[in-house]
Amino acid sequence: SQNERDSLFIVLNYAKDYFQETLKKTDEGRSIGLSYFKERGFNEKTIDKFDLGYSVDKWDAFSKAAKSKAYSEDVLEKAGLIIKKEDKKYDRFRGRVIFPIHSISGKVIAFGARTLKKDAKPKYLNSPETEVYHKSEILYGIHQAKQSIKQLDNCYLVEGYTDVISLHQSDISNVVASSGTSLTDDQIKLVHRFTKNITVLFDGDPAGLKASLRGIDMILQAGMNVRVVIFPEGEDPDSYSRKLGTSDFKKFLEENTKDVISFKAALLAKEAARDPLKKAESIKEIVGSIAKMPDPIVRSVYVKETSNKMGIEESVLFSELNKILIGDR
Ligand code: GTP
Ligand code: MN
Ligand code: MN
Ligand code: MN
Ligand code: MN
Repeated sequence: SQNERDSLFIVLNYAKDYFQETLKKTDEGRSIGLSYFKERGFNEKTIDKFDLGYSVDKWDAFSKAAKSKAYSEDVLEKAGLIIKKEDKKYDRFRGRVIFPIHSISGKVIAFGARTLKKDAKPKYLNSPETEVYHKSEILYGIHQAKQSIKQLDNCYLVEGYTDVISLHQSDISNVVASSGTSLTDDQIKLVHRFTKNITVLFDGDPAGLKASLRGIDMILQAGMNVRVVIFPEGEDPDSYSRKLGTSDFKKFLEENTKDVISFKAALLAKEAARDPLKKAESIKEIVGSIAKMPDPIVRSVYVKETSNKMGIEESVLFSELNKILIGDR
């Protein structure tokens, strides 16, 4: 019910304030949490912009504080803030830095929480699904990004919380994160409210590449334009923006943004150069992406581009395309 949702919003906002205060005003928060963020290069302004926080390494520090403010155990559990197991109850987030997740209008709806211990699992612990948090429907950073997405008519899509935050600090604020899960249609629709253009900036590792291939086809299927930047092996937008600094990073993005055809062509280029069969494969791969585009006029524009780039007759590409379209629809 709306009443129940409102009570979750209130307790989630209280938790956000509590974690923020813990980060800034307690010895443990300052010496562990705040110094972690500082080491990652986050400044005060950034820490405030994203409401970053810290949860102390105790079983019930947060619950005790919340109960003293008259929040019921029931509402704390429904908000995903405490875990009840048999007769035991404990705080979900302990000894972690906290990334509040905001709704599009800026209400806190959930938390992501990173461990500070090397190799501890899970690296990120997130709120469970609740009445106000449906993770397939939200993108991290959308509240802070929506205005500039609209203004710049483009949205950068990254994998992680820290990628969003580092890009803001590098003066790029039209950015949202899928938070490591595979992109959903609802998330694409959310971006589509503000722009038709998405630039995918996934991590330079095999998982990132795989995720971007899947994401690209979903974005095309939604009738949106997609571009891609491949990061060097082992780098993500967070690490690489800090390595290069703001102006070189912006230059890197400008020089390395590829449309979907060039991206797929480049991906398969090395093998294709040596092996005509591989070239055929990569052309089929490209035509497969064109087939996802709902608009026939847009499809024919991409066929022309592919024809020019790959040196294949348009008619050959169209007949390949039609095979897929007839098979699929
Ligand atoms: P850092 O190591 O802090 O730089 O994080 P990262 O964002 O670079 O992490 P990574 O590239 O491994 O993962 C991308 C995103 O996936 C993270 O920001 C999280 O949203 C999510 N993620 C990563 N690890 C986990 C995990 O163990 N559990 C869950 N639920 N999500 C995770
Ligand atoms: Mn819903
Ligand atoms: Mn990764
Ligand atoms: Mn990272
Ligand atoms: Mn990463």
